Amino acid sequence: MPTTVPVFKGKNPFLPGAEFLRNPYEFTINQSLQMGDFYMMPFLLRKIFVITNHEVVAHVLQKNQKNYVKSPAYRQLRLALGTGLVTSEGEHWRRQRRLVQPAFYKTQLEDLFRGMTVVAEKYVEELAEKSALGENLDISKEMMAATARIVLKTLFSTEDTADINEMYRVMMDSQDYLVFRTVKPYLIPFAYLNGQHRKFKKDIAWFDAYIFKLINERRKDPNPPNDLLSMMLTSKDEETGEVMNDRALRDEAVTLFAAGHETSATSLTWTLWLLSQHPDVVRKLRIEIETVLGDPNGCQVSRICAS
Ligand code: HEM
Repeated sequence: MPTTVPVFKGKNPFLPGAEFLRNPYEFTINQSLQMGDFYMMPFLLRKIFVITNHEVVAHVLQKNQKNYVKSPAYRQLRLALGTGLVTSEGEHWRRQRRLVQPAFYKTQLEDLFRGMTVVAEKYVEELAEKSALGENLDISKEMMAATARIVLKTLFSTEDTADINEMYRVMMDSQDYLVFRTVKPYLIPFAYLNGQHRKFKKDIAWFDAYIFKLINERRKDPNPPNDLLSMMLTSKDEETGEVMNDRALRDEAVTLFAAGHETSATSLTWTLWLLSQHPDVVRKLRIEIETVLGDPNGCQVSRICAS
């Protein structure tokens, strides 16, 4: 374990971390190359430790996790996510984790995988149609829309496009607002004056009403669909016999939606961009798909659905 931590000294002593705010991604990559795998950066009134050293990561996350709490930025996230797995800590997190975990057992996921594949396949067809019309596609937006559809189908069995679009809009607008509150906390008072905060509260109220209605209907449904919501509704803590109340269900559902779609969409977008730059890797990928799935076109996902 390193014993001394190098400190990043920015150009503007009155606004420490300004370089990070300008372009967090580029900054972190460049500084990690220059300063190594463990350094500290003063950031506004706080300190950020940037760690890519596996020993230090294990020290923080595994061996001494009780000494560390989540960053204050998570308080902002709580305004939208409530106290789901991503934003909670300690005993509450442990209890929720035991309740949500069974939904992600391999056998449960295998069933959901079929539904995911059908949605993905339909989406690929739509993309091909758009592309055939000569439309320019913003692949980042496309991947966000695709993963939003997948996650909503997997979570709530929702396929209504109007609902999906509105949910997606609410999540994206809310996310923008929370990022704004996190990176520019000194401007938060203005959000209360210019209506931004009111709009956020209205959006979240719409989202909550939508999810509570779904939960309510699902509790009464004699033949509930097999999705994550049903799994969480029936999940019981093996140690205490506890089940989740409506508020906890809402918080975990919104958390899964938020945690599941943008992360996957961003990974897919970068993967596709990198593949577009490396045709040799595309060739290898096609061969691998053909070897694994035994299909010469290399993209026949329905083959997995049918199995
Ligand atoms: C490439 C895709 C993904 C990436 C890069 C990613 C990344 C992460 C990271 C870094 C964390 C830790 C966050 C923290 O503790 O602050 C996390 C936690 C979490 N992720 Fe993902 N994630 C991805 C996909 C998903 C998907 C598809 C889902 C669910 C549908 C999901 C659900 C969660 C949940 C529930 C947590 C909290 C777990 C806990 O604390 O017990 N993630 N993810």
